[in-house]
Amino acid sequence: MKYYKILLSVLIISCSVSSIAATPDSTKAGKVNKFTPGAIWPDNHGTHINAHGGGIIYQSGTYYWFGEHKIAGDAGNKAEVGVHCYSSKDLYNWKDQGIALNVSNTPGNDIEKGCILERPKVVYNKKTKKYVMWFHVELKGKGYSAARAGVATSDKVTGPYQFLKSYRPNPGEMPFYPAGTPDSEKINCVKPASKTDGFFCRDLPGGQMARDMTVFVDDDGKAYHVFSSEENFTLQIAQLSDDYTSHTGKFIRVHAGHQTEAPTLFKRNGIYYMIGSGCTGWDPNAARWFSAKSIWGPWTFHGNPCKGEGSDITYGGQSTHVLPVAGKKNAFIFMADKWTPKNAIDGRYLWLPIHFKGDDLEINWLNSWDLNEFKN
Ligand code: DGJ
Repeated sequence: MKYYKILLSVLIISCSVSSIAATPDSTKAGKVNKFTPGAIWPDNHGTHINAHGGGIIYQSGTYYWFGEHKIAGDAGNKAEVGVHCYSSKDLYNWKDQGIALNVSNTPGNDIEKGCILERPKVVYNKKTKKYVMWFHVELKGKGYSAARAGVATSDKVTGPYQFLKSYRPNPGEMPFYPAGTPDSEKINCVKPASKTDGFFCRDLPGGQMARDMTVFVDDDGKAYHVFSSEENFTLQIAQLSDDYTSHTGKFIRVHAGHQTEAPTLFKRNGIYYMIGSGCTGWDPNAARWFSAKSIWGPWTFHGNPCKGEGSDITYGGQSTHVLPVAGKKNAFIFMADKWTPKNAIDGRYLWLPIHFKGDDLEINWLNSWDLNEFKN
């Protein structure tokens, strides 16, 4: 009997030791001091962060990360809860701020529970003093056919955000072309020159399709909505109204016919950059980057920014946001999602530093890294 008691004690002790050893570094130490792309990223409760397809806004010394709240299982890609918000002062340690935008329980509502609500991005409007959240919405039960942009606002960064509307942008509007653009380069809806031109013209009366997206605020306060349009064949960059809650009708088409998804947009030294992906559902593919001297283009396509092993599939991820690090010059973080559609809640975050060579950029894989990676 005594022998069994001793054996039991030994078993209990060794189990507790091994469960401590399995605890992620961060929760064990209480504080995280590095990025570990692809690992579990626990929040202040020790729960893996649930903010997929997300974006980050920096306000008064704090970063706020907004993303899709996924649930367990393969139905977890449907919006059952809403948009989750986390806050951090150092980008390593994240505090759960709860659900910033709740899906609706009202049948028929555009963001009814069970709809698809992807890639939320929040920006702050200095004139209205409101936080504005844009996202991609697909109406419940309609697959990916609605292809709408949704918008919600809040007086407080963490929410609750009030849903305003969802729609397809810029009905009846033709793209903006800089002066001197030859007619041969303009879209002709009398005789569309390509498949994607045909989709554009088909959608002209009702508005352009808007799926994967981001929002960018320029130095002059003007904001832009960037989205995969025309059945995901072409990106559009569209100006938002002064209050950031609607479209002005001014927009351009970028890289027509080349199926760019997952757009991100940022600015460095007066140059605009976009990093996006190809279009292969939840499977990863090679990233692609573009640059331009004006938001209105012309945008130059530069190919894949990722280097080394795994670069052909963005190391297993897909872009979602590029974050300028506050207080550091030339410090930009490439944020990507490693999707796990069979158990959506387990999706991982791949954040990597962007390195610049002159005006060119490059991304390399790192198992772990910290902000000292940025030299200045
Ligand atoms: C890839 C997109 O980038 C995601 O946001 C999501 O829409 C999936 N496709 C759906 O297959």
